[in-house]
Amino acid sequence: MVSSIHASQPGPGSSNPPWWRRSVVYQIYPRSFADGNGDGTGDIEGIRSRLGYLRELGVDALWFTPWYLSPLADGGYDVADYRQINPRFGSVDAAAELIAEANANGMRVIADVVPNHTSDQHQWFLEAVASEPGAAARSRYHIRPGQGDGSRPPNDWTSVFGGPAWTRLDDGEWYLHLFAPEQPDLNWDNPEVVAEFDEVLRFWLDQGVDGFRVDVAHGLVKDPDYIDLGDETEQILGNSRRANHPFWDRDAIHPIVRRWRAVVDSFDNERMMVAEAWVLPESYGKYLRPDEYHQVFNFDLLQAEWDASEMRNVIVTSVGKAAGVGSTPTWVLSNHDVMREATRYGLPKDTKWRVWPIVGPEEDLDLELGARRARAAALLMLALPGSAYVYQGEELGLPEVWDLPPEVLDDPVWERSSHKQKGRDGCRVPLPWTAEEQSFGFGSNGSWLPQPPWFGQYSVESQTGVSSSTLELYRAALRLRRQHCIDDEDIEMLDLGEDVLAFSRGGGLRCIVNFGPNPIGLPAHGSLILASSVEQGGVTLAADCAVWLI
Ligand code: GLC
Repeated sequence: MVSSIHASQPGPGSSNPPWWRRSVVYQIYPRSFADGNGDGTGDIEGIRSRLGYLRELGVDALWFTPWYLSPLADGGYDVADYRQINPRFGSVDAAAELIAEANANGMRVIADVVPNHTSDQHQWFLEAVASEPGAAARSRYHIRPGQGDGSRPPNDWTSVFGGPAWTRLDDGEWYLHLFAPEQPDLNWDNPEVVAEFDEVLRFWLDQGVDGFRVDVAHGLVKDPDYIDLGDETEQILGNSRRANHPFWDRDAIHPIVRRWRAVVDSFDNERMMVAEAWVLPESYGKYLRPDEYHQVFNFDLLQAEWDASEMRNVIVTSVGKAAGVGSTPTWVLSNHDVMREATRYGLPKDTKWRVWPIVGPEEDLDLELGARRARAAALLMLALPGSAYVYQGEELGLPEVWDLPPEVLDDPVWERSSHKQKGRDGCRVPLPWTAEEQSFGFGSNGSWLPQPPWFGQYSVESQTGVSSSTLELYRAALRLRRQHCIDDEDIEMLDLGEDVLAFSRGGGLRCIVNFGPNPIGLPAHGSLILASSVEQGGVTLAADCAVWLI
């Protein structure tokens, strides 16, 4: 057994580090979690009724995707009023009670903040549209005359969801939207915009939130000359290699982050910020400077193929990057924007899973394999140092509902991509809580996206108490993680062969994952405390399985 790297990152006051350094954060998509009032849409009442479930699951924190007033043109990432809760979900008072109750149950709460764009129904945008070209009300957004006779957009930028990033107003000017036309981009050179978000953060910190997940954190600032991009491939996800990109990862973002950090730090009780920033490894550290974000989402694990060396590289690089700037790594296997991993891992290597639901072939999907690998991946992620972000339903091993009929699709990606991508609805189908009831226990009156007939077998009810279930595997993993993985942030990579990913943690736990096609012998150990597959007998480790040894 050869040690390949050793990264040790004790963190400030390592005996009692801030909560966010080592937390398991459970992502709630409120619209699809639990419906308390029987209108087919999830809500705060529903979430409150399931807090006991989350406490028993053993997560440390909850992150709520946007619950603000919104026409839901992009699932709530189009905010019409940052200080109001969507009445379909509840009220600010109900949210404050939920936060307090979650805290009382030992769970921190992270709210989502969306500073790159508002809804086109936000008061500011309505005012901008109603005002004359050149009016101050327009300067809160990027509203420009077109090129030539005005009929061509100001430049060649395209929207992340497809199509041009500019839409024309009735009076002939154009407004910028890096996402859907219902999501006009704010102009962060405008001091009113800057001041407003300080207040929005304060408002929610006053309601008791422990932190913020900042949406499209790498997109806020645009080139003041609106120069052409020239190359459409540079648009994608912000993973551009271009220096001085006109709208991703610009240096002028950082003074804004420092303001927010000062606001967050002016509150007690270890409040934090985590950035959704799709940036290159060399930029990552800038967002994590001591006066900027506490954490940045790391999507490398999610984007990696099911392959030992790819995963190993991701882990070694991510641990190193975070340690280099005094933060801890974050780990994500899925979220509300990507195909669920139980399906992703059941597709052949290199499948483009964003288009696969349309191009197929369907026979390529092996759900049994996907489930095995997803369970192994869970043990891999939950043994790593740092924070793990778990998306609702991941703990149930829920597959993607990839075959939703086109007429029910709600994600703007479907239309904007000219039906080349189905979009993200397949991972947003309301959760199954019971095996037989109406809407599988989600609510008493249907669900806003249809649940497939097979959903009941994945329900909380069907899995509770079944020792071989994915839910019980997660429960055990979260319990054992607290015992064995959170006293330190040390990790040592172990070499058990090319197809095997293995590491040990400071407390002595060893996690071993077999990515190869054949069983492997396990190294000598005291006891095997958790296995992703029950067929694992303690001597060998089957293909696509993981174990925790001490
Ligand atoms: C983020 C969100 C995604 C949303 C986009 C625009 O990437 O995760 O759901 O569509 O931002 O706000």
